[in-house]
Amino acid sequence: MKEIIDVGLKTRKVGPDIAGPKTDMLVVGRFSDGKGLNKLEKELNSRLDGAIDRLIKLSDFKAKEGTSAVVYGSDRTGAKRILLVGLGEKKKATLDTVRKAAAIAAKRGVELKAKTVSLALHNVFGGRFDAAAMGRAMGEGAYFGSYRYDEFVTESENGRLDRLKVEVIDSDSAKIRKLTKGLSCGTAIGRSQSYARTLANRPANVINPPALAAEARKLARGLKNVSCTIFDEKQLKAKGMGGVLAVGAGSKSEPRFIALKYSPAGKAVGKPTVALVGKAITFDSGGISIKPAPNMDQMKLDKSGGIAVLGTIKAIAELGLPLNVYGIVPSAENMPGGSSYRPGDIITTYSGKTVEVLNTDAEGRMILCDGLAYAVKQKCDVIIDIATLTGACMVALGKYMAGLMGNDDKLIKQLQKAAEDSGEKVWPMPSGDEYAKEMKSKIADLKNTGSKWGGACTAAAFLGQFVGDTVWAHLDIAGMDIFTKATEYTAEGSTGFGVRLLTTYLMNLLEK
Ligand code: BES
Ligand code: MN
Ligand code: ZN
Repeated sequence: MKEIIDVGLKTRKVGPDIAGPKTDMLVVGRFSDGKGLNKLEKELNSRLDGAIDRLIKLSDFKAKEGTSAVVYGSDRTGAKRILLVGLGEKKKATLDTVRKAAAIAAKRGVELKAKTVSLALHNVFGGRFDAAAMGRAMGEGAYFGSYRYDEFVTESENGRLDRLKVEVIDSDSAKIRKLTKGLSCGTAIGRSQSYARTLANRPANVINPPALAAEARKLARGLKNVSCTIFDEKQLKAKGMGGVLAVGAGSKSEPRFIALKYSPAGKAVGKPTVALVGKAITFDSGGISIKPAPNMDQMKLDKSGGIAVLGTIKAIAELGLPLNVYGIVPSAENMPGGSSYRPGDIITTYSGKTVEVLNTDAEGRMILCDGLAYAVKQKCDVIIDIATLTGACMVALGKYMAGLMGNDDKLIKQLQKAAEDSGEKVWPMPSGDEYAKEMKSKIADLKNTGSKWGGACTAAAFLGQFVGDTVWAHLDIAGMDIFTKATEYTAEGSTGFGVRLLTTYLMNLLEK
């Protein structure tokens, strides 16, 4: 199988003549409300006999967010191409503006087969953001933008780059030091997000639960301070993980329960132990309550939550964060068949609670409840679950934000802050007692579906029954990783949503 595009990221100190260095593509940021040309644009413009001026005067490029324009260099510029990237209105700019601009640059670089892309994006922000934070954002963005999933494409018309070199250029040594620090953090996070995207994008005939468990084991081996426990079907039976077993019963591929533990010896004393619990349904056909045919292929992405957890463990272990973190990933394939679980079945879950199955397509909550109960048994202080859980969440919020529910205001606020910082957006939704009441069964403790309304909220309320008094939040990412189209920032397919958000949440815990 073909490797994904390898991204090499570094800083380069250039002379005071920042318009001069040799590169395949020099990337310059521009605000839509900027008056005239900035210093770097002026220098380039004069070497190109007014080409940038002409472009702007023709209004071919208005520097709106998400847009870019190529100007070709001459022998008076070191750059073969100059990419102007629109940053939108100056007062609205955030670190996400920097991240997205780097993503556009990397995406255009790959499309135009520019081997070296030199980012001079940060300069126009002046002192508004810390240089390290901008370095991190550019690193994350470079990975995000250059990513494409093509490991099974054997016949492509024009070939593609195997390696993209991205360098952040500056003439100031102190700034370079900060940028370098930020870039190395952005590299760990960006690379982990790309890792997650590839795992998520792999189809269900390639990644089934045992294959995912093998990936997790391989991941743990390659990281420092990460151990990996895997339960196979026999062990799931011995433990009484009835939810995972029920959902996995209809598939030829056995279910697995994956528990990674990142525990940096000695470093995490006095810090909370956080459990990340992710849904990894390697294919969701709906089971006996089978889904309609159109777009069913997209349900290979129903493992995205679990994979975001693996990606986050990779990132924090590479960063060496001083925290104890569990990565708990129950995995099954939801298929119809002679041995499938059925509507009407009553399942005893790992917690001891019984669940009446009313719809086998509400399978995410059936595996997550065992994952949550496991996290409680490990005495974790905080539990965050992440799942492509409901179509209802997508109906409510669309494709730009994940639903956020939970039982603790402080945790909700921390996740909202992490969303702002990471650019992976969330929106708070309710899931209180009224919703929980809908999930009570007459013949078991709970049932796995509620009424017609508020499906994202009742699903969350169901999960909330399995965390006891533990501080808990739930992220419904159904709209974020399934049915995603290519944008100006990145390719179609999995976005790896959650890796940046959860890693940022964990990094922010260390800031106080
Ligand atoms: N994986 C789906 C949720 C989903 C649907 C994600 C469409 C993205 C796009 C989940 O397992 C599911 O099927 N949920 C059902 C729940 C219902 C049966 C209560 C749903 O949302 O329809
Ligand atoms: Mn389903
Ligand atoms: Zn599902």
